[in-house]
Amino acid sequence: MPLPKAELHVHIEGTLEPELAFALASRNGVRLPYAGTEELRRAYDFSDLQSFLDLYYGLTNALHTVDDFAELAEAYLARAAEQGVRHAEIFFDPQAHTARGVSLGTVVEGLARALDHSEERHGISTRLIMCFLRDLPAASALATLEDAKPYLHRISAVGLDSAEAGHPPSDFREVYAAAEALGLRKVAHAGEEGPPAYIREALDVLGVERIDHGLRAMEDPELVARLVRDRVPLTVCPLSNVRLRAVDTLADHPLPAMMEAGLLVTVNSDDPAYFGGYVGDTFDAVRDTLGLGPERLRELARNSFEASFLDDDEERRAR
Ligand code: ADE
Ligand code: ZN
Repeated sequence: MPLPKAELHVHIEGTLEPELAFALASRNGVRLPYAGTEELRRAYDFSDLQSFLDLYYGLTNALHTVDDFAELAEAYLARAAEQGVRHAEIFFDPQAHTARGVSLGTVVEGLARALDHSEERHGISTRLIMCFLRDLPAASALATLEDAKPYLHRISAVGLDSAEAGHPPSDFREVYAAAEALGLRKVAHAGEEGPPAYIREALDVLGVERIDHGLRAMEDPELVARLVRDRVPLTVCPLSNVRLRAVDTLADHPLPAMMEAGLLVTVNSDDPAYFGGYVGDTFDAVRDTLGLGPERLRELARNSFEASFLDDDEERRAR
C-alpha cells in the first residue's frame, strides 16, 4: 500500500500522456508535429524550463472540448489513486487554452466533471488552482480573473506559473489583490529558476500562503530562517528539477538539506507525463536516491496534508 499523501503541485496539462494526446488530436482533427508517441517521447529531452514549456504548450493543442478536459483529469485521478494520493490541489492554465480559442468555461466544466466524481470513484478530494501565465502581461491575467467570475465556486486559489526568469511576482500585485478580494487563496511558483528575491516578493507583495518549488531559497539563509519560522510550505518537485536542469542529478537535490533545515517541504510531480513519474514514483525515487528513510517519508506525507487547503476535519478524513 503506498503511503497516503496529498499532491499540491501538479499541472493538469502536464498529466497529458502521449497516447491520450494523440487520441484527442485525432478526434479533434488536430495534427501534432510528431510522427507518433515514440518520437514525441524522444523529444522530452529538455535543457531548461523554457524548452519544456514550448513543447507543453504545443501539446495542449490536442485539447478542445469539455470531454477532452474531463478525460484528461479522469486519467490523472486514476493514476494518482494508484499512487496513494488522497487529496489533490490541481493547477490549470486557462490562458494556454483561451489564447487558442478554447473558452475558460469549457476548461473548467470539463475538469469539474471529473473532479465531481473523484471522491466516490478514486477516494481523492480535490481543489482547483487557476494559474496566471507570468510571461504574458498582467492585463491578460486580470482579464482571465474577470472571465473566471462565473466559475469561482469551482476555483479555490490562484497561482503563477510559466517562464519565471525576468517575470517577477510584483508584476502581478494588482491581480493577486483582486483575487484575494474575491475570496481566493494564493500561491505562486517562485525560486524554480528565479532568484530568492522572487520568493520574498511572492510573500511580501502577493501575500501567498505557499511557494511552489522554492528551491533557490537555499541560496539565502535569512530567507530559509523566515520560511522555517513562518512555516511557509514549499511544494518541491524533485523529478522536475532534474529534467529541467535546476539540479544536475537527483543525487544532488537539496531536498534532504531542506528537511534538515526545518522547512515545511512537500514532494510533488509537477508535470508527471513529461518528467518520468507520478507522485508515488517521486517518493520512491527520493527514498532510493537520496536515502530518505521511513520517518522522513512519513514526514513528507504529513507535511502534504498540513500544507494543503483542507481544514482539520477534512485532513483527518483524508490521511
Ligand atoms: N507550467 C507547467 N510546469 C511548470 C513549471 N515547472 N514551472 C513553471 N510553469 C510551469
Ligand atoms: Zn509547476
